[in-house]
Amino acid sequence: MKKHYDVAIIGGGIIGMSIAYHVAKAGKQTLLLEANEIGKQTTSAAAGMLGAHAEGEGHEDIFFQVGRASQALYEKLKVDLQHESGIDIRKSVGGIMKVAFTEEEKRALCRMQHLSTFQWLEASCVKKRMPQIANDIMGAGLIEEDVHVEPYAVCRALWQAAVRYGADVKEFTPVIEVIRDKEAITVRTANGTFTCDDLTIASGVWSGRFFEELGLSYSLYPVKGECVSVWNSGPALAHTIYHDHCYIVQRDSGKLVIGATMKQNDWQAVPTLGGIEAVIQKASQLMPSIKEMQIDQCWAGLRPATSDRHPYIGRHPEDERILFATGHYRNGILLAPITGEIIRDLILGKPVQEEWLHAFRIGRKEALFI
Ligand code: FAD
Ligand code: GLY
Repeated sequence: MKKHYDVAIIGGGIIGMSIAYHVAKAGKQTLLLEANEIGKQTTSAAAGMLGAHAEGEGHEDIFFQVGRASQALYEKLKVDLQHESGIDIRKSVGGIMKVAFTEEEKRALCRMQHLSTFQWLEASCVKKRMPQIANDIMGAGLIEEDVHVEPYAVCRALWQAAVRYGADVKEFTPVIEVIRDKEAITVRTANGTFTCDDLTIASGVWSGRFFEELGLSYSLYPVKGECVSVWNSGPALAHTIYHDHCYIVQRDSGKLVIGATMKQNDWQAVPTLGGIEAVIQKASQLMPSIKEMQIDQCWAGLRPATSDRHPYIGRHPEDERILFATGHYRNGILLAPITGEIIRDLILGKPVQEEWLHAFRIGRKEALFI
């Protein structure tokens, strides 16, 4: 007999795992199916910045609102997960120092000046806080609330806690087919067949095939990011350094994570020499001493992108038993807690902010495949 669950989730990255945690904690019989190992795809490639300010374009837009709400959820999540899983998600302090080299960059940054969470610092002041930073900066915007976490630690903690709340998590179990009939949804995998009342697709950049199989013409494409880590031989960075998609993030282990390229439609999650060279080149303009540091490792990950850069979070327009939570692009670590809560509330029939559901709805024209 096929085993039946209230909720099944396809994909064990940070998004699927956050959903599993939230729905299992709410008392639902939960199954999570992962094709490989939990958290070892794009989630493990991430720097872990919670960049609600730094990654946004406007500061009154929906991304900022949702990003800030999710950033706030991390405070309680950190305490809960420590208690429920024994894992420290390594939430940092210090936030992001977003650097400007030109008047134009300063003007763009100072559009955040009205926010109490933003502080413009002249170069001398930045240098006092971070003597490692390049001499030719004009100044920087300090955003102390854009802290970072360790993405794999968050994913692993969510996993342990979800299991504690009764979730079944199956690694090395790729989903082969989803079959819908009136009674239930059947999920056929390489290791058996399951049925469920609600199914959530959270398989990152690989979710596109499920859109197609479930009768939707929306798709996702990869934006590959290449990174390198080095052993910091100098004083620890007090803040993440960030400029034009390039960042240097201090880890507790003493490593610096340096990222990242932006290569559209490259499906190979392997770094190239040229990509790593470009990252080192940019990062050494921000912090010249990194060129002398010893390399730890290089890697690449595939950001799941939609054409309007907003995720898909919500129900299938024609079959409300199917939900999607994918396309989190550059911000899946930031948005994991709020995504888990939104999907949980939809499944439980609880209210969710209409404006958010509208912005992230599956049928939106803005996100038609390009
Ligand atoms: P994934 O982590 O890719 O998980 C999807 C899972 O689905 C995979 O484990 C896969 O094996 C599984 N799967 C696929 N198909 C199937 C199937 N048929 N059956 C079962 N399982 C399946 N975000 C931030 O917020 N802050 C950052 O600082 C940050 N830095 C980044 C740096 C880089 C270099 C990159 C590449 C990304 C970064 N991101 C960052 C973005 C973030 O990593 C992603 O948005 C996030 O990891 C997406 O999570 P996910 O769970 O949707 O996808
Ligand atoms: N958010 C950082 C990145 O995607 O590279």
